[in-house]
Amino acid sequence: MNRQFEKILVTAALPYANGKIHLGHLAGAYLPADLYVRYQRLIKRDVLFICGSDEHGVPITITAEQEKTTPQAVVDRYHELNKKAFEQFGMSFDNYSRTSLPLHHETAKEFFLKLFNAGILKEKKEKQLYDNKADMFLPDRYVEGTCPVCSNPDARGDQCEKCGTFLNPIELKNPRSKITGETPSVKETTHLYFPLGDYQKKLEEYISAADKRDGWKENVLQYCRSWFKEGLQDRAVTRDLQWGVKVPLSSFDRKVLYVWFDAVLGYISSTKEISNLKKKPDMWKEYWLNPSTKYVAFIGKDNVVFHCIVFPAMLMAWNEQGGDQYILPENVPANEFLNFEGQKFSKSRGWGIDVDEFLAEFPADDLRYTLTMNLPESRDADFYWKDFQARVNNELADIFGNFVNRTVTFVHKNFDGKVPEQNKLRAEDEQIIFLAKRCAVNAGEFFEKYKFRDATLEVMNLTRAANKYFNDNEPWKTIKSDPERCSTTLNVCLHLVNWLAILFEPVLPFTSEKIWKLLFHTNVPNDAGWVSVGKFLLQSGNPINQPEILFNKIEDETINKFISQLPNQQNPALKPMTFKPTVSIEDFQKLDFRIAEVLQAEKVSKSEKLLKLKVKIGSDERQVIAGIALHYKPEDLVGKKIVVIANLAPAKLMGQESRGMLLAASDEEGHLAVLIPEKIVLDGGIVK
Ligand code: MF3
Ligand code: ZN
Repeated sequence: MNRQFEKILVTAALPYANGKIHLGHLAGAYLPADLYVRYQRLIKRDVLFICGSDEHGVPITITAEQEKTTPQAVVDRYHELNKKAFEQFGMSFDNYSRTSLPLHHETAKEFFLKLFNAGILKEKKEKQLYDNKADMFLPDRYVEGTCPVCSNPDARGDQCEKCGTFLNPIELKNPRSKITGETPSVKETTHLYFPLGDYQKKLEEYISAADKRDGWKENVLQYCRSWFKEGLQDRAVTRDLQWGVKVPLSSFDRKVLYVWFDAVLGYISSTKEISNLKKKPDMWKEYWLNPSTKYVAFIGKDNVVFHCIVFPAMLMAWNEQGGDQYILPENVPANEFLNFEGQKFSKSRGWGIDVDEFLAEFPADDLRYTLTMNLPESRDADFYWKDFQARVNNELADIFGNFVNRTVTFVHKNFDGKVPEQNKLRAEDEQIIFLAKRCAVNAGEFFEKYKFRDATLEVMNLTRAANKYFNDNEPWKTIKSDPERCSTTLNVCLHLVNWLAILFEPVLPFTSEKIWKLLFHTNVPNDAGWVSVGKFLLQSGNPINQPEILFNKIEDETINKFISQLPNQQNPALKPMTFKPTVSIEDFQKLDFRIAEVLQAEKVSKSEKLLKLKVKIGSDERQVIAGIALHYKPEDLVGKKIVVIANLAPAKLMGQESRGMLLAASDEEGHLAVLIPEKIVLDGGIVK
């Protein structure tokens, strides 16, 4: 299928340098990309594997503000963390770059200017919210306000999380800036748009042709079809922000390129960087500008539109101008999502596990194997701790580890630790050799088709057959009855160990290295790679090393420890708390909290949220207005004792006077509870 291509360029989505890599990320884009690349290297293809950190975008600036630091400090930290976690996991990138590099900024600007100068980008004026105090236009996520649909007072600028409505920030009622808390004003701003709609027809043709050649995944095609059905819309490629690639036009100062416009170009700049590092500055052209390079872009499903539609359209627009012609992805094998113990990964709920944490406890190959067997290749899949334990113990240790160990141990015990002679091969030997060769062919086809689980199942089945071969040939008997036969059996077994190490290398690179050290005293496979499966490369009489345990079994105790750490009601997620600035006890004592009895309650007319309460605090009776009507019916409260702040300055709400405020608790999930003393206390009582 690949034959017409000289080279392969593989990219994996550039992760945001705004958080740590977790298992879901690995199963979505990174592990599949690494499996593919390692296989291609083993069949001796010229393959270049590119990745790096995506260091722009609003979430990064928000993190910086929350952590009271700079965006640069945020990305510096996560770039290092993620780079290291990927290394520990065995990702074999040729380059892991970052989009804050000058080289990237230049590349993105050059790209932008070519499209701009060709008149492709359209200028449009629009109204946007402006924070006068901070002197900046507010990105959607920097605005909060009341949802025009459901009156949720804390709707985000881009979406109301309560009713799900997608919003434009200027639709919010009572908008407030998340930076200064001020009410923003509406101001006109100009942005440049990429006319995606103009490319729809070409994009449809491109995808269907690439699909015919390389077999795109059904889930990916379906996402594309639904985008095409809706009709592609113009997309803004500039933003009113400071952090990002500056728009290289004087009339657009104080604006940057939209993060996605620059991020996808990060693949190109990362390739340029590695070319420079290798002192072959034009090397990147042999990949990006070479029609006989096959480009495969690995991503998770949330990135499909950017890789199948936006990025190809950008490249088409560039190519239309003549000059350098970029290649387009030949395939975009996007995975669905991996869940964790039946639920979505969630940083805020503490649900899931980061790669560095996982690898502090377990070897990378254990994780690589388990994830490979559970890849969300066509639908969402799950990681379960119990499944992880079972796969390591019952498959890696009991099948693969056991085969290697019994073979090597037997050779040490009975053949002085030297590769036994191969005498005449019998039918059963030919049979297992044939199975190994067939496995290389079948697994190879699966790798080419991005079916990594099927490929690995093939190899595991060969490992089972190898164990059966050992058992059926009973070397522990023939060592006495027929030593020549025993020698041949073990010679074949040792070769099977080598072949399995090759076939498993994409999935278990660390283990394969150990095996090659054991057999050949070197940590690299012999030059022939994949094609040496079925070939006899071990010299009889050569010593092999002592066996070491390849896979440690995982105890119930260990796994149960991780299961019991999962957040639940008894064991809430420990996310860091942020509190308001400290106050003195004197300040606290200025507030007069009192027990009050609710005498009457009714809804405030024309308000969905407000209740009007008449309360009695000892001999004092007064009116208090409370925003709790969405949670309490008036009759729920009459007769209840509550807590009010009695000395708060009076306020007017919807024309109603409120003297004091009642205390209520609320949480992130939208629960609200009025505080009620748990035993009898008389109204007027002091709360302290
Ligand atoms: N940072 C994005 C994410 O994590 C992916 C960017 S892929 C790129 O979802 F092509 F834009 F780099
Ligand atoms: Zn709403």
